[in-house]
Amino acid sequence: MLHFLILLLLVPSALSEFTVILPDSTSPLIDSPQTGFSSHARTDPAEQQAVYQVMAATGNTWAGSIPDVCRGRWHGIECTPDTNDVYHVVSLSFGALSDDTAFPTCDTRAATLHPAILKLTHLRALFFYRCFVYNPQPVPPFLGKLGPALRSLVLRDNGHVGPIPAELGDLTSLKLLDLHGNHLTSSVPGSLSKLTRIRKLDLSNNRLTGGLPDLRSPDLNVLDLSRNFLQGRIRPSLARSVSLIKLDLSRNRLTGPIPDSLNSLENLMLLDLSHNSLSGPLPASLQGLSSLRALILKSNPMGPTRIPSNGLSGLKELSTLVLSNMGLNGPIPECIAELASLRVLHLDGNALNSSIPAGIGKLDKLSELRLENNLLTGMIPLGKEMIWKMGRNLKVDNNTGLCYDVADGVLKGVDSLSTISYCDPETTTPAAARTTQHLSLLIRGGSSQPPSSSSSSSSPSRCIIDHSWFGRVVAWFMICALLLL
Ligand SMILES: *[C@@H]1O[C@H](CO)[C@@H](O)[C@H](O)[C@H]1NC(C)=O
Ligand SMILES: *[C@@H]1O[C@H](CO)[C@@H](O)[C@H](O)[C@H]1NC(C)=O
Repeated sequence: MLHFLILLLLVPSALSEFTVILPDSTSPLIDSPQTGFSSHARTDPAEQQAVYQVMAATGNTWAGSIPDVCRGRWHGIECTPDTNDVYHVVSLSFGALSDDTAFPTCDTRAATLHPAILKLTHLRALFFYRCFVYNPQPVPPFLGKLGPALRSLVLRDNGHVGPIPAELGDLTSLKLLDLHGNHLTSSVPGSLSKLTRIRKLDLSNNRLTGGLPDLRSPDLNVLDLSRNFLQGRIRPSLARSVSLIKLDLSRNRLTGPIPDSLNSLENLMLLDLSHNSLSGPLPASLQGLSSLRALILKSNPMGPTRIPSNGLSGLKELSTLVLSNMGLNGPIPECIAELASLRVLHLDGNALNSSIPAGIGKLDKLSELRLENNLLTGMIPLGKEMIWKMGRNLKVDNNTGLCYDVADGVLKGVDSLSTISYCDPETTTPAAARTTQHLSLLIRGGSSQPPSSSSSSSSPSRCIIDHSWFGRVVAWFMICALLLL
């Protein structure tokens, strides 16, 4: 699974799209071979009738002509025999998720979820995808009675309306609950904190209101509540979910600061809090998230706040950093250039007013750099090779005083630099006469290091937070306390 995650994390456009498929043999998406097949075994008669009813209610009446549903099985039904040679239905799936997983599709104008499903007492996984789209109906509260065997409940892109039933909290063995892409309008029921084994909770793309849920599962890997109307603060207690790999709360109405405590989520690979109303400052402690691959905080109008001077440089694995449109001011810290794995860096639409740190020109994996709409000044410290490589993925226009070093190469056809003029060699400011002309731009060869206006040799030690003062302060307090006694 990690490889799957990493792969997708490297593709920025896929960040908000992908689904994590848990490596759980009960997952409805894994077409595992039927185990323990016995020529004598027959489907439990009560379950067989229930399957007929459930299938008919979705428009799949053809199933009624199959004499033994577990023996004449189709993609989308899984059964397991017990010691008495009786088959029990453990998994039912509907919907064409992909060409590989063509489960029975539903009659989207008439399908319903039949309560006979409660007779399937051995059910571990239930999966409905795009099933009730033109027959909108609430998520049936009776699903809460599905019992302790159920590990996986997926009701994805189904057109469900109304609330998330509090009864779903009774499914205490659930590892996966996916209600993505419906029209659910309630708050997230407090009862979901009873799901103490949940690993993936995806309630994204709904119309949920109220505050964030208080989840208590130590196994929670994936929490996706993005694209809802959730309000209030991010609870510091969220940091108890130490197994989190993906945390996506983007596109809600969250307020308040980003809690410092989140830095204890040391397995976290994706943190997306973008498009909310979170306030500053940007905690320097975020650099404790040592596994992080993508940090996306854009479009939180935080007001005047700075990028931490440590440049979040502890995030050694970080490949995507998106801090656009946040009201950031002050400098781009030199230390940001220590993020050696960076591929995507977006700092556009802020009020950053330093020069571009020279080290950014040495980030050899960088393939997308957006710095437009800031107050940046001085020489652009990127080699010709890097500029050609990035092409349209380099954006630097609308800055106060960025300019180009005059040197040996002619830069034709680089749209991203068409509004930038070359630097006056004396002052490292844009050559005034050229600012409005679209002349061929001259740049240095990629091999030589452009003399940056802030020509500092950034030493790594300046980028690491010094915690030792804290120890000293504590020691002083203890000595004082002892003296007073
Ligand atoms: C950059 O902006 C900050 C905050 O607005 C300001 O204090 C500082 O003087 C500015 N620096 C430069 C070089 O303009
Ligand atoms: C230039 O950037 C500033 C932010 O620094 C923004 O307010 C302004 O609208 C931008 N101008 C254009 C033409 O995009």
